[in-house]
Amino acid sequence: DARVGWEHFQQLMEEDKRVEPRDWMPEQYRKTLVRQVSQHAHSEIIGMQPEGNWISRAPSLKRKSVLMAKVQDEAGHGLYLYSAAETLGTSRDEMYQQLYTGKAKYSSIFNYPARTWADVGAIGWLVDGAAITNQVPLCRASYGPYGRAMVRVCKEESFHQRQGWEILYTLSHGTPAQKQMAQDAVDRTYGPALQMFGPPDADSPNSQQSMAWNIKRFSNDELRQRFVDMIVPQAEALGLTLPDPELKWNEERGHYDYSDLDWDEFFSVVKGNGPLNHQRLAHYRAARDNGAWVREAAAAYAAKQADSSRD
Ligand code: ACO
Repeated sequence: DARVGWEHFQQLMEEDKRVEPRDWMPEQYRKTLVRQVSQHAHSEIIGMQPEGNWISRAPSLKRKSVLMAKVQDEAGHGLYLYSAAETLGTSRDEMYQQLYTGKAKYSSIFNYPARTWADVGAIGWLVDGAAITNQVPLCRASYGPYGRAMVRVCKEESFHQRQGWEILYTLSHGTPAQKQMAQDAVDRTYGPALQMFGPPDADSPNSQQSMAWNIKRFSNDELRQRFVDMIVPQAEALGLTLPDPELKWNEERGHYDYSDLDWDEFFSVVKGNGPLNHQRLAHYRAARDNGAWVREAAAAYAAKQADSSRD
């Protein structure tokens, strides 16, 4: 009964063990996981667009095949995460519908355009870099299917980050114009990438409970700081500058200090008013509508196969 279930759940939390789909769990735990995991899945799916846009314009066959593989990985991550969310009792169709109708959130970063080839590099280095920093601790999330999905996702994300870093390295050691293109891409991507970690802790309504439930292991600001500390030496190795004049090592804290971010811009993008929110959603809807016949044909074929195997 519920009391036994509650005690079992509490014990799992105290012993930092995993909750599995058939275990009893508080409704709020289930709800916040569906919220986070479905938003995460939608981010992977919408996140294919900025880079997908560059597949046909990649500068070499090698770059093109790497980029295609990367974008396909993102689709795979989305499908994994939808599967993890389904184990909590929300159907995939329901989640698709929430994205289709614009009700669902997905990461703010994907509402910015990828203007040049260098943006593909900056997305790999900074956006996937931020994603890994946020997701490595999620491998230990208390909900089993989510944590296990994260393990493979993180391995693939680290390949994505390296390919982005290598694109930027090549550009920054190329002609002055190529180096400038890399610098412009980093200038555009840095702030929005730091905002991926979510609002400051004081404005993060979900963090405290999610941390108490061992879903999140670190707060938004803690992970953002970890990311800044990681990318400063990487930027130096690239020969590029991070666009924050206040960025400097703080001996006392043992961390880099950095300027506050533009939170008005962040909340405006999350509300749907970023540069490309409308375009991203319109593209998603068109892809879903245009693919309807494929899903119908696949379902008809599967039904026919099931019928004939019964004979
Ligand atoms: N973009 C859009 N919405 C955001 C963002 C962001 N960068 N950051 C926070 N929000 C939303 C939250 O979803 C929440 O909305 P809701 O309450 O309506 O669901 C609201 O802002 C308040 O934020 P928090 O209370 O801090 O929310 P939460 O505790 O869920 O933390 C975070 C946000 C850090 C993004 C967390 O959900 C998380 O770790 N998610 C998994 C990682 C993920 O989704 N990554 C996606 C990008 S990576 C990629 O796809 C390659």
